[in-house]
This record gives sequence, structure tokens and C-alpha cells, in this order.
Amino acid sequence: MRQAVVEEGKALILITDPEEAIINGKFEPARLKVFYNPLMEFNRDLSIIAIQAYIDLYAPHRPVKILEPLSATGIRGIRYALELENVDEVIINDLNTLSLILMNRNVQLNRVERKVKIFNKDASSLMHYLHRERPTPISIIDLDPYGSPAPFADAALSLLGHKGLLAVTATDLAVLGGSKKWKALKRYWVKLADVPQKKEVAVRVLLGYLARIAAAHDKVIKPLLSYYADHYIRIYVLVERNASKAAKLLDENLGYMVYCRWSGKAFLAPEPSSCDTTGDKGVFLGPLWIGDFVDIEFIEYMIRLFQNKFSYLNTSKRIRKFLKLLIEEASLQKNVYQYVPAIASKVADRLPKLSELLECLNGKGFRASRTHFDPMGIRTSAPHSELALCIQKSIRRENNEG
Ligand SMILES: C[S@@+](CC[C@H](N)C(=O)[O-])C[C@H]1O[C@@H](n2cnc3c(N)ncnc32)[C@H](O)[C@@H]1O
Repeated sequence: MRQAVVEEGKALILITDPEEAIINGKFEPARLKVFYNPLMEFNRDLSIIAIQAYIDLYAPHRPVKILEPLSATGIRGIRYALELENVDEVIINDLNTLSLILMNRNVQLNRVERKVKIFNKDASSLMHYLHRERPTPISIIDLDPYGSPAPFADAALSLLGHKGLLAVTATDLAVLGGSKKWKALKRYWVKLADVPQKKEVAVRVLLGYLARIAAAHDKVIKPLLSYYADHYIRIYVLVERNASKAAKLLDENLGYMVYCRWSGKAFLAPEPSSCDTTGDKGVFLGPLWIGDFVDIEFIEYMIRLFQNKFSYLNTSKRIRKFLKLLIEEASLQKNVYQYVPAIASKVADRLPKLSELLECLNGKGFRASRTHFDPMGIRTSAPHSELALCIQKSIRRENNEG
């Protein structure tokens, strides 16, 4: 097997011949004999900071075992072994036999044989095995599939112990975001519609799905970090055993997003509700997670960790910008973001500058921020009527200045 070596974080990783994955001059990671996507470096870098934050805050005096059941080259798990503090063991696994060969070589190349164990099983079978046949306390499970994490969620949530961390990547955004609504109903048990806020819908659908599976195991989830980037969403939830609160928390955190087709207004509600009294037509999406999707203290800790320990990461410029925006919008996360073009098309003849719009809302005493989900979205505490007035005012001001 022809190979190449890549360097990422503190790891050197052998990958299969990259030439084989060049299709019409474009690199297609899924065409490699063993999957490796250089574009996911940001995802893996951010994982290093998020998992270290979890270990420091939630597992400081406990032995920490990390399981990465869909490892491909092993890059993620090997980086965890090399770059994280206070990790006792990392288990990497992949069903692909070529992947097994690469994982072994990569573990040797990085000299982490004592910390990293390798399996070559079906991911769910491995999780059941570690749960029932050879009970192994696992603190962190990182599910990084190609597509949907749904097939692996039940085994992961039953294996994970009290105060464990579940990290999940999902790339099936057409399903989670509502473009393929029948698949969303089958896969995630939600009724969706086509709305502009697809990426936030995707995060809230996946959180709602994980919360329901956790509850079936008498467990509850607390989102620490959820985000959208490039072509995927990524979620980190703290999982706690709590039989008495599981139903109550599900009841409080599951609800609906309402999108009003005439006005462009969007909001979250515990039950499907109507838009207003003027007959504006609303569509309901859900049941989905209406609670917080990030924990502000967790993100603040990540920012400090990043500055103190992880500024060597290759994607550090992007991480700095990203965490800054995330913390800005976090205080308004109870309000789903408003898609400015949808509202502007009803009340104005063109788009306002977002900076002017934010200034207008702040000037009126409302809180407002941009969102990482969409460069044309804003979160605000202002009612819809005030937002519409500010859109008109911002455009008038630009006209006068122009
Ligand atoms: C997206 S790749 C993982 C990428 C890797 N985590 C990284 O950061 O580079 C998904 C991997 O899951 C493996 N896989 C798919 N279904 C599996 C299953 N049921 N059990 C174990 N591995 C599986 C595939 O062979 C593939 O290598």
C-alpha cells in the first residue's frame, strides 16, 4: 500500500496514497482507502481544547479513558494521547481492515503504544462489549462518522458513565436541517420544514435526539459546546445518570421552532404556537431542543485554555475568532437567530449593513449579536416590530450617508 505522511498538531500520521483520491483535480477524502480529511483539522484542534476543558472541569481526579470507535487512520485518538493532559488510555477502533494496519503503524510512529489500544470491530458491537462483556469505565466517547451518528448513539449513551462526555460529529446536514424531511422523520423522529435557519435547526434536532435516547437510559444531557462549521455540526454534551430528572428535563427542553412565512420571524416555543393575530402563516419544526446549546462557563474556560496551552495549533487564528463570536452569541442563545434577508425582503427594498443594524438595536436598549451559524443572521432580545424598524432605519441612514 503506497502511503504519505501528514503532520497535524503533535502527531505524524501515515495516510493511504493521496493520488488515488484526486478526482478531476479535486481531493476527495472519501475516495482514500482509509479516510482522512485535512479540512477537519479545525474540528480536531477544537476537540483538543474542548476535551481538555472537560477533563479539567468535570473529571479532574478520575482516571480518564477515551473511546474513538470510528478512527480511520487513528489521527484523532493518537492526537488525544499526545496532546491532552491526564488521559490514562485511548481506545481507537475501525471496522476497515486496512485502517487496522494504518492505526497500528501510526501508533508505533508516534510512540503511544502504552497509551493507545486498537480494535477492529463494528463500533456498536465494541461499545456493547465494553459495556456488558468486559465492563470498562469510559469517560469520553467521540463519534466521528461519515454521515449520521444516529446508528451509534444508543450504544454510546448506554456505555457512557455518570458525568461522561459525548462528542458527536454529524455531516448529514440535509437531513438534520430539514431539506430531506422524510429522512429526518425516519432517522431523528422530527417533523421539519424548509426554513432559513437550517444549521441551528440541525444542532437542535441532534441535541433533542440525543436527549431522548439518553432519557431512555435514565440519563440526562447538558450541552457544553455545539457548533456548525464547513459541512458539519459538532456537539459536546455532558451525560449524567439521573432517573428522577430525565423526564422533567426532557419536558422542559424539548419543544418547537416556529417560522413565520409572511414576516420572516422565527422563535422557539414549548408547544406549536401561532405567529400572531394578523394571520401570519407559521410552520412548526420539532420536537427539537429548545434549551441552551452551549455552556458559557465552559466556553470561557476553553478560551483561557486556548490562550495558555494551545496557541500552537495550526488553526489557532480561526479558533480565536470562532470562540469570540460563540461567546458573544451565547448570552442570546435562548432566541433562535433571525435571518435578516427574509425580514428585509418584507419591510425594505434592500439589505441593511449588519453593523448598522446591531448599532440601532443596541441604541434602543436591546441586546443583539451576530451568529456563527450564518453571516446574515442576528440574535436579539428585540421584538420583531423593533427589528423591522431598525432594518428600515439602517437603510435610511446608509441612503443619507451615501
Ligand atoms: C469519517 S471516518 C473517521 C475519521 C476520523 N475520526 C478522523 O478524525 O480522521 C469514519 C470511519 O468509520 C469507519 N466505520 C464505518 N462504519 C463503521 C462501523 N460500523 N464500525 C466501525 N467503523 C466503522 C469507516 O471505515 C471510516 O474509517
